[in-house]
Amino acid sequence: MAALLNGSGDAERARFREDALSGLGQPRKTLPCKYFYDAEGSKLFDQICALREYYPTRTELGILRAHASEMARCLGPDVLLVEYGSGSSVKTRLLLDRLAQPVAYVPVDISREHLLETALTLRLDYPDLAVLPVCADFAAPFALPRPPRPAARRAVYFPGSTIGNFSEAAAVALLRGVARRVGAGGAFLVGVDLKKDPRELERAYDDARGVTAAFNLNLLARMNRELDADFDLRRFRHRAVWVEEASRVEMHLVSEVEQTVSVDGVPVRFARGESICTEHSHKYTLDGFARLAARAGLAVRRVWTDRRARFSVQYLEAHAPPRRARARRQPLNVPARDLATRFRPGGSSRAR
Ligand SMILES: C[S@@+](CC[C@H](N)C(=O)[O-])C[C@H]1O[C@@H](n2cnc3c(N)ncnc32)[C@H](O)[C@@H]1O
Repeated sequence: MAALLNGSGDAERARFREDALSGLGQPRKTLPCKYFYDAEGSKLFDQICALREYYPTRTELGILRAHASEMARCLGPDVLLVEYGSGSSVKTRLLLDRLAQPVAYVPVDISREHLLETALTLRLDYPDLAVLPVCADFAAPFALPRPPRPAARRAVYFPGSTIGNFSEAAAVALLRGVARRVGAGGAFLVGVDLKKDPRELERAYDDARGVTAAFNLNLLARMNRELDADFDLRRFRHRAVWVEEASRVEMHLVSEVEQTVSVDGVPVRFARGESICTEHSHKYTLDGFARLAARAGLAVRRVWTDRRARFSVQYLEAHAPPRRARARRQPLNVPARDLATRFRPGGSSRAR
């Protein structure tokens, strides 16, 4: 199947190597969570979604089953639906079944094989729909394929609370990119996980069967496969911990012993008990997420939650971009002091 591919295999390996060595070279070692998702990682993630402890997928699916018709009405007819981090597109099917004449569905994912397999199945199941997969990092610039006919509107769909993997600044930057991509009046439908009992959160990221542990350790196995590294997986342990002051679950790989590992010939030393932070999963309040989105030019219009308000699906619209002409009409002789007051961020008459 043809897919729009952003970047060659060699360039991808070079970027993976650079990101891995840069993260492992920090005083507090980190690895970017996007590298969880090779073919093996995507399969393991699907297994996580089916776990009793992993409430997010089940809960988000429940919200979609109850409200997908309303969500589809918000997106409107003849929409171009672009999904960030589409995975197996399971939730998307509930929307696709209800959308009025969507122009095309563009699943965007970094996990190439999994993306192509999913897109092929979707094409068989939705023969009248243009399914146009794009293999790309959604946090970096990427091109969209040309749809078969003009769209009435663009919408970005971003389920799974994947937005929670980003720091505040990175989340705002990503959401700004979404606002630019859909344009003024464009739509954004996002799954956002909400704050809850830390015990439930830690269980969700550290299941009894050890599937999440295998998913986390696959990152080391992937470096062994692709970066000529020699991690001994038996010498690392999975750990998930709720960090209240940052409102997030952190996943770590903890070195059980003092050891030196080689990554493409570069030695990386670990003290006993030292960890690599592999994922942040921020949990939001509804107000907190609305404030974050507003900084990116996105306004929350509808929020659906489950009965216990554990998870939310939110519909947002992009504001019109700031009008430059208005700023230019300001008299040139206004003292800088007055301009600063008039345009101060958060003030009543902001420039944007
Ligand atoms: C938490 S899973 C969610 C999957 C699916 N959307 C769901 O709701 O079940 C994150 C998905 O985003 C993809 N992904 C993660 N980081 C990415 C990135 N930077 N660019 C593109 N895809 C990414 C992964 O391959 C994976 O399919």
